[in-house]
Amino acid sequence: MTPLLEVQNLSKSYPVGRKGLFGKRMMQVLREVSLSVQPGEVLGLVGESGSGKSTIGKAVLRLIEADSGTVRFDGQDLSTISHADLRRLRKDMQIIFQDPYASLDPRKTIRAVLSEALDTHKLHMGTARADRLTELMTMVGLSPAFLDRRPHEFSGGQRQRIGIARALAVEPKFIVCDEAVSALDVSIQAQVLNLLADLRAMTGISLLFISHDLSVVRYISDRVMVLYLGKVMEVGPADQIHFAPRHPYTAALISAEPSLKHESNRIRLTGEIPSPLTPPSGCVFRSRCPYALPACAETVPPLRDMGEGRLKACIRDDIL
Ligand SMILES: Nc1ncnc2c1ncn2[C@@H]1O[C@H](COP(=O)(O)OP(=O)(O)OP(=O)(O)O)[C@@H](O)[C@H]1O
Ligand code: SF4
Ligand SMILES: [Mg+2]
Repeated sequence: MTPLLEVQNLSKSYPVGRKGLFGKRMMQVLREVSLSVQPGEVLGLVGESGSGKSTIGKAVLRLIEADSGTVRFDGQDLSTISHADLRRLRKDMQIIFQDPYASLDPRKTIRAVLSEALDTHKLHMGTARADRLTELMTMVGLSPAFLDRRPHEFSGGQRQRIGIARALAVEPKFIVCDEAVSALDVSIQAQVLNLLADLRAMTGISLLFISHDLSVVRYISDRVMVLYLGKVMEVGPADQIHFAPRHPYTAALISAEPSLKHESNRIRLTGEIPSPLTPPSGCVFRSRCPYALPACAETVPPLRDMGEGRLKACIRDDIL
């Protein structure tokens, strides 16, 4: 099957500090990241804070420019298409943020917010508009009677439902959900996750689901990709990643889950994540890896195909 989204060797760095004698110092936050999302698939992206998850989400939507690499969406190379084509494609690629409040204008009613999204792409104009707004509210489990309310009149979970309705309004093929449930209470989190799962089943939409919480990612994803310091550590089917991780970093993330915290064989992560300005040589995870060997410092482990849709970037096959 042709992937809906195909990203190859995406790298991104940001300038840091003041300009010195030799120009600005650069901090590399993505290191040759490749990924693909099939039509109707949910790919989960997990990693600690600062690992580069949001940078991937933004680069995929071309909200920021990558240094190198390619992004193909629906068969088109986003780096070479015209501005007009990119504008058209934007309808098919939406994003939902962690804090919908920050992206909802407090002065606008929900009717205005959703209408604006439809107007941008000239969808459901005229008499069809009212039916579409009712349909969108129903889809996300909100009463259409709330259409004339403003964002502050809703709870956090309800506001996130509005964010989802706004993303769905233009019938996209793909949504980046960037920490979309992270700010919600656990019970509300489960409701919003269930809603996203139902909408996926109903519409066949694809998601890139970003979270620092592996248990949340696993719940909704078909496949999971694990990121550390801007580098892909492991990729595989969600359940296999959870029950049989092959990379020490994934195993450490799973060991840190609250339900497993008291098990004796868990892998403990020691030390802080290194700064992206001074990453370890060779394997970027080596300064915190309990299995590191001298050889791990020498070369960057390639992302190897382990069969059955699993990939890992670790030189050792004797540990997990
Ligand atoms: N505009 C920017 N300018 C400079 N550095 C940036 C910029 N945006 C992100 N960074 C840095 O890039 C790195 C990756 O950031 P990113 O936001 O992608 O991480 P993340 O995995 O989404 O983290 P979080 O879980 O905290 O949201 C971080 O070190 C961050 O400080
Ligand atoms: S390559 Fe070495 S340091 Fe990196 S995860 Fe594997 S064992 Fe650990
Ligand atoms: Mg982020």
